[in-house]
Amino acid sequence: MSSPIYLSAEHVQKCYGKTVALRDASLELYQGEILALLGPNGAGKTTLIKILATLLMKDAGQVTIFGYDLDKHPKEIRHLFGYVGQDTERSAYARLNTVENLHFFGTLRGMTAAQIDAQIEKLATYFDFHDSLHKQFTQLSGGQKQTVVIMRALLHDPPLVYLDEPTKGLDPIVAKKIRTFLKHFVQQEQKSLLLTSHVLSEVDELADRVALIHQGTIPLFGTPDELKASIGATESIEIERDALPAATRAKIEQLPLVLFTMERNSHWVAFGVHDAMEGAEAIIRIIREDNVHPRFRHHTVSLEDAFVHHIGELSERFEQ
Ligand SMILES: Nc1ncnc2c1ncn2[C@@H]1O[C@H](COP(=O)(O)OP(=O)(O)OP(=O)(O)O)[C@@H](O)[C@H]1O
Ligand SMILES: [Mg+2]
Repeated sequence: MSSPIYLSAEHVQKCYGKTVALRDASLELYQGEILALLGPNGAGKTTLIKILATLLMKDAGQVTIFGYDLDKHPKEIRHLFGYVGQDTERSAYARLNTVENLHFFGTLRGMTAAQIDAQIEKLATYFDFHDSLHKQFTQLSGGQKQTVVIMRALLHDPPLVYLDEPTKGLDPIVAKKIRTFLKHFVQQEQKSLLLTSHVLSEVDELADRVALIHQGTIPLFGTPDELKASIGATESIEIERDALPAATRAKIEQLPLVLFTMERNSHWVAFGVHDAMEGAEAIIRIIREDNVHPRFRHHTVSLEDAFVHHIGELSERFEQ
C-alpha cells in the first residue's frame, strides 16, 4: 500500500498480573483505511486499542503515531485520535442533550464554541442526526446513543479513530446505518479507522484490511477477500451428513476438484471447491452412482468461515 502510515505499533506487550494480554502485537495503519482487529474473546483487542489510546501503559514495544513516540508525546498524540470504548452508557452525560454533551467535551479539548458548532453541524449531517440533537442522552435509543459517542470521538476532527465494537447491541438496521456513515466518512475525509467487531459480515462490508489477533499476537493480515481465499476454496457444496454413507463420502473427498472437507456443524459436511457448478456436478454424479439421496446446498465462503478456519489452525499450532 502506498498511502502514508499514520500509526505503527511494534512488538507491543502487556500483562495484567500473570495474564498475558498482548504477547507480541505489531500492526500498521495507513491513511484512508479501515483496519479491523478480528479475534476471539480475550485475544487482546481492547487492550491494544486502550494502549494506542493512551488509556493503558504497555509493558514493552514501540508505538509511533504521526511520528510521535507514544511514551514521550502522549499529550500531542491525544489530539490526533478519537476513541469509542465498549461502554456507551458511560461515555456521555445522561442529563445533557447531544449539543450540550458535545460542547462540554469540545470545550475540554480547547475548542471554541464556534468550532464545536461547526463540527456538530457537519457530523449531524453525516450521521443524519439533526432531529435528535436536543434530546437528553438518557432519552435516546441505543443506536442514537452510540451515534452520539461516535460524534464525540470525531468532534475535534482527528485523523485517527479507534472504535471498539461500535455496533454492539444495535439492531441490524441501525448498525447498517452507522456502517454506511462510517465508510462514507472515512472515504470522504481520508481518516484512518481501527475497529473491532465480532460481526463478521460487518467487517467484510467495512474493512479494507483485517488483522487477525490471536492470544496477544497478530499472525495474519489481509483484505477480507484474501482471508477468504486463503482457506483454499471460494465455494463449498454441503451435504447432509447423516444421509451420506462413509464410502460415498470417501469417494467425494478423493475427487481432484474437492479442495477440503470441513464439518460445518452436526448436520452438514462441506466440500470446498473453486467452481460451484463443476463441484456440484461431480458430487451429484457420485451420489447418484451410489444411489443415496442426501439433501445438499451451496455456500459461498464467508469471512466467518475464514475466521473459524484460521483461528482453529492457530489454536492447534499453539497447543502443540
Ligand atoms: N483489567 C484487567 N485485569 C486483568 N485481566 C484483564 C483486564 N482486562 C483484560 N484482561 C485480560 O486480558 C486478556 C485480553 O483482554 P481484552 O479485553 O483485551 O480482550 P478482547 O480481545 O478485547 O476480548 P473481547 O472480544 O471479549 O472484547 C484477557 O485474557 C482478559 O481476561
Ligand atoms: Mg474487547
